[in-house]
Amino acid sequence: MPKPIRKAVFPVAGLGTRFLPATKAMPKEMLTVVDRPIIQHVVDEARAGGIEHFIFVTGRNKGVIEDHFDSQFELERTLKERGKAGELEALQRDLPKPGQTSFTRQQSPLGLGHAVWCAREIVGNEPFALLLPDVLHYAETPCIGEMIKAYGQRPGNYIAVAPVPADQTHQYGIVGLEDANAKTSRITRMVEKPKSGTAPSNLHISGRYILEPEIFRILDAGERGAGGEIQITDAMIRMAETRPFYAFRFDGTIYDCGSKIGFLAANVAYALARPDLAPALRGELKKLL
Ligand code: G1P
Repeated sequence: MPKPIRKAVFPVAGLGTRFLPATKAMPKEMLTVVDRPIIQHVVDEARAGGIEHFIFVTGRNKGVIEDHFDSQFELERTLKERGKAGELEALQRDLPKPGQTSFTRQQSPLGLGHAVWCAREIVGNEPFALLLPDVLHYAETPCIGEMIKAYGQRPGNYIAVAPVPADQTHQYGIVGLEDANAKTSRITRMVEKPKSGTAPSNLHISGRYILEPEIFRILDAGERGAGGEIQITDAMIRMAETRPFYAFRFDGTIYDCGSKIGFLAANVAYALARPDLAPALRGELKKLL
């Protein structure tokens, strides 16, 4: 029996410079897509996929993320007093159970691989999920949940991939596959931010991973890669020499909320998926367009 995937790591230490001044005093992960912070959407995905422990790798000025996943006594009391049972219930539904969250800090911005490595003591010696909070994976069934199922059938490391236009491959990690059309396929190559014209395919690493704990031993070395940063992709390349890596092809829609256009599109798409908002929003959009 493969070890179950119980824990998920959320690297939330990034500065969010692309969203200044909105992110001057507020973490970018707290920007809202409709009425939920981006990080809440990603935690929702993990929880729907069966994750039981949520590990946040934070940094300076990120305390409000910890507050967001805590109960808010005064607010709850006020909602109760005002008879707002629906709102209160919704807040309580979202709240992780006591002991289900952990927070640790990445003390210097040394890269994504380093951020993940900072969670090693909390993850321990078991496979775990990694979800990049900038990227929303919109689908009927949660991307990470599907990956956990695939892992249950065939243990190993899994990376979600999805196509990008050829002129964007240099912005991402790109994979080469044994079978580019299969839902899951063995990965034959991985390159972080390949120079234009050198990408092994148009399938990019979209920000959802299942990783075996051996990744931490490789990250221990602290080797720098692309951009002088400790890259998770480089550690995965090393690990793929001895452990199986599979790509999981994500068929839903990806919104890269690290970019303004992706963030705006996510807001429109998520609102249009809400029966309480869609009709009125459609009317407003028609007026604008
Ligand atoms: C990171 C990963 C990259 C992946 C991307 C997805 O890059 O290193 O492999 O394709 O996230 O958004 P970053 O966006 O941090 O530069």
